[in-house]
Amino acid sequence: MVSNGTAGLHLIALGLGWKKDDVVITSPITFLASANCAVYVGATPDFVDIDESSYTLDPNELEWKLKQYSTQNRKVKAVVAVDYAGHPCDWSALKTLQEKYGFQLVNDYCHSLGAEYKNEIQYAPKYADAVNLSFHPVKHITTGEGGAVLTNNETLDKKIKIMRTHGMTKDESDLEKNDGPWYYEMHEPGFNYRITDFQCALGISQLKKLEKNIERRRQIAEYYNNVFRKDGRFIIPQVSGSAKHAYHLYSLQINFNEIKISKKEYFLKLKERNINCQVHYVPVHLQPFYRKNFGFNVHDFPIAEKFYERELSIPMYPDLTDDDLNYISNTIIETLDKLK
Ligand SMILES: Cc1ncc(COP(=O)(O)O)c(C=O)c1O
Repeated sequence: MVSNGTAGLHLIALGLGWKKDDVVITSPITFLASANCAVYVGATPDFVDIDESSYTLDPNELEWKLKQYSTQNRKVKAVVAVDYAGHPCDWSALKTLQEKYGFQLVNDYCHSLGAEYKNEIQYAPKYADAVNLSFHPVKHITTGEGGAVLTNNETLDKKIKIMRTHGMTKDESDLEKNDGPWYYEMHEPGFNYRITDFQCALGISQLKKLEKNIERRRQIAEYYNNVFRKDGRFIIPQVSGSAKHAYHLYSLQINFNEIKISKKEYFLKLKERNINCQVHYVPVHLQPFYRKNFGFNVHDFPIAEKFYERELSIPMYPDLTDDDLNYISNTIIETLDKLK
């Protein structure tokens, strides 16, 4: 357990030994932290475009990029693949690429608690060397702020636990000397990334609601799917045959170029009618920091950019009632109908 998901990613970066000039690849359609964790340790972030139907990192694009790097005699150190919105990545394909090209594989699994891949709910640490979770209030379960790292690698587990608490160790086998039972040593400066016990107590009680809440999220998604799939103006999220979606988000796409309203105007009109949408995400490579420091630009990742132009995350949380769903979907449709 750690203080938040961003701390978890930072600890994974430290634990996996990312250093200056190491290349770390992630998806442009993710929260900033998935890329920032590479920057924290001086590594070089890079991106690979998303797959048009799952909105997760496209393994074909990844292989193309890995080949580009190998023609320059450079190796990619790690790939942070994001199970975006609650839809698992194509982990079998990513694993095959890992075996071929030898990079470390991280699952940024902050959206996906409760998802299934190839009928397994515990898939994440089977494919990835390290898995990162967030328990921020908007996530499936919360500890106020909080996070966790999952790994089957004992060395990584130990390193992360040391770096979570200032780099201190009391482990006999690590000590240069031993002055007594109080004695500790620091071999590398770490951080205070601990979580409190009372936050964990909240997390334990939240776990009891997890299954029921995910079931409700799936019902909500089914409701939205039934409404929006009949209407050609919308693109609903697709679920690949190997996946069971956890629906942290419901990403609806609208081709605003083909209708008489901009995304901003439409978003504000829905807000006027008490429907608070969000957009997940502004592509990370287009952030001023990434453009200025790493030279990324518009058109670098066209599928991600098109997705950003069209995507609206419509309300998705277990407390929504059937009446709410009726109001939300009717309002979304009516607001477009009125433009005719
Ligand atoms: C994909 C992803 N990665 C990382 C994070 C960071 O987690 P936290 O907010 O707990 O630091 C989030 C949270 O918003 C996220 O959605």
